[in-house]
Amino acid sequence: EKGGFASFMEKEVHDQPAAVADTLLGRSDSAGRLTLDELRIDPGQLKRVKKIIVLACGTSAYAGSVAKYAIESWCRIPVEVELSHEFRYREPIVDADTLVVSISQSGETMDTLMAVRYAKEQGAKTLSICNTNGSTIPRESDAVLYTHAGPEIAVASTKAFLAQIVATYILGLYLASLRGNLFTGQIRDIMADLNKIPGKITDILDREDEIKELARSMKDEASVLFLGRHVGYPVAMEGALKLKEIAYIHAEGFAAGELKHGPIALIDDGQPVFVVVPSKRGRDSLHAKVVSNIQEVRARGAKTLVIAEEGDEAVREYSEFVFYVPETPTLLMPLLTVVPLQIFACELASAKGYDVDQPRNLAKSVTVE
Ligand code: M6R
Repeated sequence: EKGGFASFMEKEVHDQPAAVADTLLGRSDSAGRLTLDELRIDPGQLKRVKKIIVLACGTSAYAGSVAKYAIESWCRIPVEVELSHEFRYREPIVDADTLVVSISQSGETMDTLMAVRYAKEQGAKTLSICNTNGSTIPRESDAVLYTHAGPEIAVASTKAFLAQIVATYILGLYLASLRGNLFTGQIRDIMADLNKIPGKITDILDREDEIKELARSMKDEASVLFLGRHVGYPVAMEGALKLKEIAYIHAEGFAAGELKHGPIALIDDGQPVFVVVPSKRGRDSLHAKVVSNIQEVRARGAKTLVIAEEGDEAVREYSEFVFYVPETPTLLMPLLTVVPLQIFACELASAKGYDVDQPRNLAKSVTVE
């Protein structure tokens, strides 16, 4: 059942091209019109939405953080991303013009379920992005968009994360078309770029030995830091979470711009730092800023491990190690840049002899508050 892989996690990392392709399947016609699975909200009401609040925990919350960049850019609706267990206890401002989007692989996470119930009581419309058909959260929501990642067995979420990002993007494009923020042609182009993602993930998986070798060489590290900017920031957070969860190594993700406000004090000789570098073809200044962050940590002795876009030669001279991902538009980059970080954590944990599918102290779905 592990399909010849040593663990479910490794298999699920390799399922990702299919998870993305299946989540995209049948969503748009040639005219660029999009479909959701269940919609018990009047489209007129969705048109009037003034604010989106994304509620989720763990990896699913990082998918939400990625989604914020895309949905705000395409729909010009403010998006707040909040951990479900924090949301209920701060008197959140929610009304009938708020769309609450919950993201949950299992659909049974108690913190998220309680937050969705609370939002409903306050009059919000609720939409569930979920990987488990008929589970509690989608059943209690006004609208549903299922991710088609297939059953995820490993405690550490991988393929569900990619499918969640894709689902939030479909939602963003749906809202943008409903509200007239994007032209049909623009939506079609973005869908075409999304449809190229599975092939690009396969390209990364074909070169996984590069990252596996690095992981094995780092099995005795005590701490690994991860830096990213823009959509690379939640990717850095997710890379750190994977390592904590299954390899029990101290790991922290930071927004690269925040370095100089404190975390740079952590850097000393030999400290490994992963840096997720944005595309050079995107906003030029963003790329330049991250390259200078690499220089800053390296000047203080860090071992710089870089995830960059193919053709980005600028990073080479400041990096101990570079893994290149295929070119793709900036907003889609997380679907590629997270993959080497998942492989890294999985291989490192295996090299330490840990059971990567069943990490200590953790459950696959957290059904207590
Ligand atoms: O089933 P959910 O997506 O609601 O689960 C949320 C988190 O518990 C989950 O993503 C957790 O952080 C994973 N173990 C991460 O790998």
